[in-house]
Amino acid sequence: MSQSIMPLQKTIYIKIGGSTITEKSLGRPKPRMKTIKDFCKEVKEIVSSGTNLILAHGGGSYAHPFAAKHGLNKGLNPKERIGVTETRFWLTELSQIFLKEFLELKLPVIVFHPSSLLYKSSKGWKLCFSPIKLALRNGITPLLMGDIVFDEEKGVSIISADDIPFLLLDVVDEILFLIDVPGVLDKKGNLIPKLHREDLSRLDEVLDLTTDVTGGIKEKIRKALILAEKGKKVRISGYRERGDLLRALNGISGTEIIAK
Ligand SMILES: Nc1ncnc2c1ncn2[C@@H]1O[C@H](COP(=O)(O)OP(=O)(O)OP(=O)(O)O)[C@@H](O)[C@H]1O
Ligand SMILES: [Mg+2]
Repeated sequence: MSQSIMPLQKTIYIKIGGSTITEKSLGRPKPRMKTIKDFCKEVKEIVSSGTNLILAHGGGSYAHPFAAKHGLNKGLNPKERIGVTETRFWLTELSQIFLKEFLELKLPVIVFHPSSLLYKSSKGWKLCFSPIKLALRNGITPLLMGDIVFDEEKGVSIISADDIPFLLLDVVDEILFLIDVPGVLDKKGNLIPKLHREDLSRLDEVLDLTTDVTGGIKEKIRKALILAEKGKKVRISGYRERGDLLRALNGISGTEIIAK
């Protein structure tokens, strides 16, 4: 008897940036509630249509000011251990805002803290991935975030939510980074619809005035290019209001990152 082959469901990693969901330049935690609510509603529509999502949120003003204050991006200074607690505290507050929205929308979502799921060994990242896979298999959408993680050499390291897809290459087909501007902009501030590695020189003058302990837009583009070179479909788009997520996933907004 011939068996019908089920089409494989694709899995999309969507990272909503701290620049979008918080007042990042404020230097103290402040959420952009309307943006978060709009985003969560769209997530529900997409998951309900049968697409697997792995969600992640950036830290924005809930993480970068504290990580910078305690120098956590340079490793752990024993005098600054409380910085781990302070940063983790505020990140949890931000995750809870998302969870509350998802709960009201009745969308099953579970938070995974990278700090309890992975660490950096002297040989690279070590990840306990099964809980994420099992959540997906059971129809519960994982929500991760940029986080402070233990590091065998430096004490702690910061993992950006822009780095997490490198650890999920086996399960993720597409990667979408959402930021607070329409995508990658050139020196004149115009959107670059398609970006190849050789286009990087067009960006130099506008780049990076923000406080981002993980390197801001320049690092995001560098990582996006590597992910594209690994065969993933990658896009950097803007998120301001409802509809922007669908537009990005349909490839009609933002910057497509192209391997060659
Ligand atoms: N050439 C550029 N193209 C696009 N964005 C740019 C450019 N130059 C600077 N930026 C800024 O980079 C920011 C996006 O990168 P950044 O790492 O700060 O945000 P994020 O990743 O959303 O935040 P987080 O790390 O907290 O999640 C945007 O706020 C944007 O204004
Ligand atoms: Mg960033």
